[in-house]
Amino acid sequence: MGDRSAFLWGVATAGHQVEGNNFYADIWLLEQVRNTRFAEPSGDACDSLHRWREDIEITAALGLNCFRFSIEWSRIEPAPGEFSEAWFDHYARVAAACRDAGLAPVVTLSHFTSPRWFAALGGWSDPEAPVRFARYAEQAARRLAPLVSHVITFNEPNLPLMGRWTATPLADATRAGLDAMLAEAARQSGSDRFGVWVYSRGEDDALAHLLAGHRAARQAWKAARSSVQVGMSLAVPDAQAVGSASGLAAYRQFAEAPFFAAVRGDDFIGVQTYGRILIGATAVLPVPEDAERTESGEEYYPQALGAAITHAHAETGLPVLVTENGIAADEDGQRARYITAALESLDAARDSGVPVVGYIHWSLLDNFEWRRGYAQHFGLFAVNRGDFTRTAKPSAQIYAREVRMRR
Ligand code: BGC
Repeated sequence: MGDRSAFLWGVATAGHQVEGNNFYADIWLLEQVRNTRFAEPSGDACDSLHRWREDIEITAALGLNCFRFSIEWSRIEPAPGEFSEAWFDHYARVAAACRDAGLAPVVTLSHFTSPRWFAALGGWSDPEAPVRFARYAEQAARRLAPLVSHVITFNEPNLPLMGRWTATPLADATRAGLDAMLAEAARQSGSDRFGVWVYSRGEDDALAHLLAGHRAARQAWKAARSSVQVGMSLAVPDAQAVGSASGLAAYRQFAEAPFFAAVRGDDFIGVQTYGRILIGATAVLPVPEDAERTESGEEYYPQALGAAITHAHAETGLPVLVTENGIAADEDGQRARYITAALESLDAARDSGVPVVGYIHWSLLDNFEWRRGYAQHFGLFAVNRGDFTRTAKPSAQIYAREVRMRR
């Protein structure tokens, strides 16, 4: 497992989406408030809190060598400065079991959720936020650095900025609903603020705090074990200019440039690609009418991956770890086609000289897809919502075969 030169082939999960009963997380509260914008609450999710061994086993059985999961800050630090050794033990057992199964543990420190208390203190808009995150990151490094292969500090922290740049009248209505939900969560928390980055406007001061948090976390993990590979994962669609390139340049400047600057000094850049966006002179354009769609209504465009990887490397000079790539598909054959085509575009990027250190598919399981609830199916395995049984879909075998052909 210490062999970092081996290409990583993995699957990704995220705590809140699979563990279940994440009571002390900010997003759990957002799911519960009377004016929630969530289609349904996460509830038991996939019960991975109790079934994580099975998740690791089914991943290893596919012939993969990497497993991505996140640790839940709100379980580890349920009150400011109060750390739970028992929860650290839990995540240490998960990481150790990955290693025993021949899977490199890739760990995310912050996958959209934070503790409720952190949100009620204003989340990332509070000037103390970087210190709070650094304290958590340091404690996590102290306990987990010996076991972990790669650390992702933040998952897609550029999403709020992408959302702001691509805002439409529909997005404005959505914005108002999110603000009302956040206000209600603040009220229930006895605060005048409830800052949840992924549902925020991505304000400049909060962004600066978050990026300071990234640097502090990187330092803590490197100090704990210098060979741990540290990076951040960004949402990187294949952004294409239609007509004038001025819109594309403005988009990149706004939603990518601050992050590409912040990852300087990291060991890798985490790239998460689901498809492409078309950008005209000033705004994002609608999906072409004749385009094939995915279950979530987005354009089916698997070849986006190669372009996104190439772009992220060109902008940062860093080796790329594909930390997410996948598709919401109710018809599993579409997922199988997607995987094959996405990996062909990955091959082409690697052949052209882009250093890629791994590919991690989103996702192992059909899981809690945030505001859209359980209606979207990103999993290689279906999960029975009554008894949590995992059942492999044919696309899981297709992915396993594609990996075998390349190893
Ligand atoms: C996120 C995942 C999410 C996936 C599919 C990514 O933006 O990191 O948590 O489930 O996309 O929407």
